[in-house]
Amino acid sequence: MIAGGHGQIALRLARLLTARGDDVVSLIRNPDHAGDVRATGAEPVVCDLESATADEVAGRLTGADAAVFAAGAGPGSGTARKDTVDRGASVLLADAAERAGVRTFVQISAMGAGEPPREGSDDVWAAYIKAKGEAEDDLRARDLDWIVLRPGLLTDDEGTGRVTLAEPVVGRGAVTREDVAAVIVALLHASGVERRTLELVNGETPIEAAVASL
Ligand SMILES: NC(=O)c1ccc[n+]([C@@H]2O[C@H](COP(=O)([O-])OP(=O)(O)OC[C@H]3O[C@@H](n4cnc5c(N)ncnc54)[C@H](OP(=O)(O)O)[C@@H]3O)[C@@H](O)[C@H]2O)c1
Repeated sequence: MIAGGHGQIALRLARLLTARGDDVVSLIRNPDHAGDVRATGAEPVVCDLESATADEVAGRLTGADAAVFAAGAGPGSGTARKDTVDRGASVLLADAAERAGVRTFVQISAMGAGEPPREGSDDVWAAYIKAKGEAEDDLRARDLDWIVLRPGLLTDDEGTGRVTLAEPVVGRGAVTREDVAAVIVALLHASGVERRTLELVNGETPIEAAVASL
């Protein structure tokens, strides 16, 4: 199950997963997005993560192998939605995963999460990295097979298939959304990669090898 299923990484992830034969359910908040999600091969389910209850989400999650938190308030949003989506919706999905007995949980976070904001950065950025940091802390405290994935600056360039993926600190850099999605696919199908915080930028190592080296 992918939460934030109409997001730019989420749509790429759904396409890659369904292409390899996985069944994907994508949670979206806007029913008008259902067609785009269906076009990836995933099943859309309308569920607004700022108003749903953990039991409602757990009901959707029951029987899933994994939950991926790919939602985000987005660049046009203010400080309040950084808290309700980037923190709150991740906490809600993790609560639901525990209730539904779904152990594998991949959270898309961001580099800089939980760090003090750099001097001169605005309130919205500060609220964003605070929310991401709190969502990470919440997940790490849970009895789940969690993975926190912190991509660098996201781009819409074509995927390269090559990355640097490691525990902090990897160093700032960019990464394509296509490569982020491919890394999540590889992590979901690997063993022994759970309970880690991983940073991700484009680099030299083929994705399968980068995940195998973990
Ligand atoms: N931009 C960067 O350089 C960067 C770097 C590192 C990490 N990240 C993080 O990476 C993640 C994914 O990035 P992306 O570019 O794929 O994001 P995106 O395209 O902005 O997608 C986020 C999705 O979350 C959905 N969403 C928002 N509120 C929701 C709610 N209440 N209930 C359900 N879904 C909701 C949005 O739905 P709507 O379409 O209906 O709004 C949207 O489809 C985000 O968390 C982002 O913060 C970004």
